[in-house]
Amino acid sequence: ADGGGSAESEGPKELSDLTVGFAQVGAESGWRTANTKDIQDSFEEAGIPLKFSDAQQKQENQIKAIRSYIQQQVDVIAFSPVVETGWDAVLNEAKDAGIPVVLTDRAVDSKDESLYVSFLGSDFVEEGKKAGDWALAEFAEATEPVEIIQLEGTTGSAPAIDRGEGFAAAIAADPNLEVVASQTGDFTRAGGKQVTEALLKSNPGVDLIYAHNDDMGLGAIEAIEAAGLVPGKDIKIVTVDAVKDGMQALADGKINFIVECSPLLGKQLIEIVEQINNGETPEKRIITEETTFTQEQAIEALPDRQY
Ligand code: AHR
Repeated sequence: ADGGGSAESEGPKELSDLTVGFAQVGAESGWRTANTKDIQDSFEEAGIPLKFSDAQQKQENQIKAIRSYIQQQVDVIAFSPVVETGWDAVLNEAKDAGIPVVLTDRAVDSKDESLYVSFLGSDFVEEGKKAGDWALAEFAEATEPVEIIQLEGTTGSAPAIDRGEGFAAAIAADPNLEVVASQTGDFTRAGGKQVTEALLKSNPGVDLIYAHNDDMGLGAIEAIEAAGLVPGKDIKIVTVDAVKDGMQALADGKINFIVECSPLLGKQLIEIVEQINNGETPEKRIITEETTFTQEQAIEALPDRQY
């Protein structure tokens, strides 16, 4: 007999004998690039072999990658779901194969919470609320309606849904603040630019752009400048992420406020993998700690910003 019992009966494996499969969303934003680097660096540092795939923002590619990790019998599968729905079938396949799944960054919308062991990431509703609370304070003295354009993230993704929800709930406190147009820019700079160009034409009186991430806000800056207007002054901008390029634009006064969303999830993911390997039960929901940045705070933080 080969003694081929389960990992449970054999106890924890050496970290170098583990294999983790990570199915990433894509490379759509500065945030995502920083997230990928942090995950790859953290696994290398921990000495845990990592299989990595980039789904180019397509759910079918992510499903394919997860299926291939199941076939390869990896020890843990981690992934950041591009959209919230449509995961039950493939996650059941992982469950049947006895492979634990960790959600990083984004949630799935499934009734069956047994399909994943832990969800590590930000509270996106809270991020949207913080952006909305800033808008409330910024326009508190406004005597006329405040027109807002919202640049949404990828349609159907957790951050787009939740950041929209949190923002709407916050600005509902002041009937003067109104989202006059809302469209997806797919979390990319090019998308943010293109949508802003079009929406500026149909909404010439816009006062504020709320972009679900820095990259779309940076695209909006290009469109505003091309229209002969001054970003940060003629049209104010609030974004989410706080990656270096966003923070530089905030320091330069082109963005007015940024809500932080931290991409540095690698170390915590390693801890979860180690807990699984030791037969421990990781916490079901681990919320990332984050802050917000004004222009002054961005100027102070920029020299040490790593991403
Ligand atoms: O899921 C996190 C979001 O995805 C980030 O805010 C955005 O920049 C990225 O593309």
